[in-house]
Amino acid sequence: MNRTHYCNDIRDHSVGQKVCLSGWVHRRRDHGGVIFVDLRDRTGLVQVVFSPEREATVHHRAHELRSEYVVEIYGEVTRRPKETENTNLPTGMVEVNVDRLEILNASKPLPFQLDDAEVGEGVRLQYRFLDLRTPRMQKNLQFRHRANQVARRILDEAGFLEIETPMLTRSTPEGARDYLVPSRVSPGQFYALPQSPQLFKQLLMISGYDRYFQIVRCFRDEDLRADRQPEFTQLDLEMSFAGPEDVMALTEKVVAGIFQGTLGLEIPLPIRRITYAEAMDRYGLDAPDVRIPMELKNITETMSQTGFKVFADQVRMDAQGRRRGVIKVLRVPGGGQRLSRKQIDDYGSFVSVYGAKGLAWIKVNGPWSEEGWQSPIVKHFSDAEKDAIQEITGVKAGDLLFFGADTAKIVNESLGRLRVRLARDLDMIEDKPFSLVWVTDFPLLDWDVEAKRPVSVHHPFTAPLVEDLALLESTDVFDLLKVRSRAYDLVLNGIEVGGGSIRIHDPAMQKRILSLLNIGEEDAERKFGFLLQALEYGAPPHGGLALGMDRMMALMLGSESIRDVIAFPKTQKAGCALTQAPSEVDELQLRELYLRRVVRPKGESA
Ligand code: AMO
Ligand code: AMP
Repeated sequence: MNRTHYCNDIRDHSVGQKVCLSGWVHRRRDHGGVIFVDLRDRTGLVQVVFSPEREATVHHRAHELRSEYVVEIYGEVTRRPKETENTNLPTGMVEVNVDRLEILNASKPLPFQLDDAEVGEGVRLQYRFLDLRTPRMQKNLQFRHRANQVARRILDEAGFLEIETPMLTRSTPEGARDYLVPSRVSPGQFYALPQSPQLFKQLLMISGYDRYFQIVRCFRDEDLRADRQPEFTQLDLEMSFAGPEDVMALTEKVVAGIFQGTLGLEIPLPIRRITYAEAMDRYGLDAPDVRIPMELKNITETMSQTGFKVFADQVRMDAQGRRRGVIKVLRVPGGGQRLSRKQIDDYGSFVSVYGAKGLAWIKVNGPWSEEGWQSPIVKHFSDAEKDAIQEITGVKAGDLLFFGADTAKIVNESLGRLRVRLARDLDMIEDKPFSLVWVTDFPLLDWDVEAKRPVSVHHPFTAPLVEDLALLESTDVFDLLKVRSRAYDLVLNGIEVGGGSIRIHDPAMQKRILSLLNIGEEDAERKFGFLLQALEYGAPPHGGLALGMDRMMALMLGSESIRDVIAFPKTQKAGCALTQAPSEVDELQLRELYLRRVVRPKGESA
């Protein structure tokens, strides 16, 4: 016997055909004489029927079948009697009457029922090879396969070359900790697994390959969250003689192609672009979910003379005439009616996680002049301030206002996160499954408070915006932090799914940026001397981007976690529940590598 069809291929049009199917026994039901089996393969289920009238010996053997036995059957497709049709199943109009059965393998009883929604992820990951049999995982991984193929096709047609870059390499500068691999032949020396192919793809541009892409594994030893894995996959690309618009347009083509080729959805192009400055001003976050119909309003100037000391203290001018902080307000439509005092207090605790020292609020029952504003702070506001707040926020009866006063960083993050949280809690997200937006012109530098030096927002190879080159010459950190870059992120439903930039191709500029970052010449030479050297030999202008494929797939499939779109993911503790990696190795292996174990001192955490 040889398989002629997949289970899900058996439809109305197959009636009368003889077919051979291979797969797993999903469920067996004994109906006094007749035995029904749901046969499953990677495409789906079809009902196969063993009846004593048709083939007595085959029917007899079917009694041996248990869940997850592997079988091959041969039989005839017939239409099901009307009353036994199953409209929930694509193959539910037909069944296969079995003439021949081969039991290819048995299965122990499963540690969990595949379709039991209550089974915890721990057990599922431990028996991932079983979990991967579920329709959910089959669908997810096939979806991901399709997305990869679409991306490959579009990039190939656009003249991109798929080129592999090394996994055993030097430390790459994406800002996370490296995974290190000891070298046996050079004792005491280590490779690093790449955090991204960033430097190699730049070298490929310098080598003249012009358009490169790779679907590539990246490794980052960082704290894990639902949307982060220690190893994850980027759709990485780079192109020469290109500006931000070229990279964004190309990326849009790939992303729209993926949506079209997997979900059949049309993404209207071009994708909306907003600057980083606008995103922070209106949404408080650099990865805004623009489906949420609430925006932050800046009332710093309005409130700069306020009698409310808590606010006034935050926005006082310093000796150089610069304000320390900002005051922003978030209007929650209907929030005054829908939120209890307890909930308002809980949101106060929520924002404290982001450093907010409080969360002032006003419940609006009507115009302030008619005592319609209920709040512990409003007594401190002047009439003019109340008028201005009413005007700026457009607040209406039934609404609630939340206020943040602190450094821009704290106010933006706390009110920005609060906006997202409120939208979820109050079900205020616009009913639109996917919303994409580009965030452009990111700042080049951020201030690392602990190290007391500037650090790259994207990475040290990102080019500054030409308009801001003069600022880059300033010795005032305040000015330096205002320099914008030619970097852009792609955001899907408030999650960063991709990021890239135009790179520096001028060696002098690259050295200048490295020195601003306090990376000394010797240090730079040691870390990426090869790139600095290559820049001296005819480097074309170039730029690119990387899409986080795990995140994008998870969002497109509506999964809570990127583990759902990875065949063999790691747990929260960066372990593999299936193989039990990481694991100890034997002494001999360590000795070959000239490594010795040391015991972690008591009380010291990893
Ligand atoms: P970046 O560091 O922004 O850029 O990474 C690109 C995208 O990769 C995804 N991503 C992750 N996904 C899962 N788990 C992680 N730990 C993880 N870290 C990042 C995100 C992110 O947007 N070399 C540059 C790209 C470039 O400049 O061309 C880079 O790696 O979706
Ligand atoms: P207090 O006078 O300190 O009791 O604060 C009065 C109100 O202002 C309380 O609701 C606090 O939560 C709020 N509050 C205090 N500090 C801030 C701040 N930095 N930003 C916003 N609200 C604040």
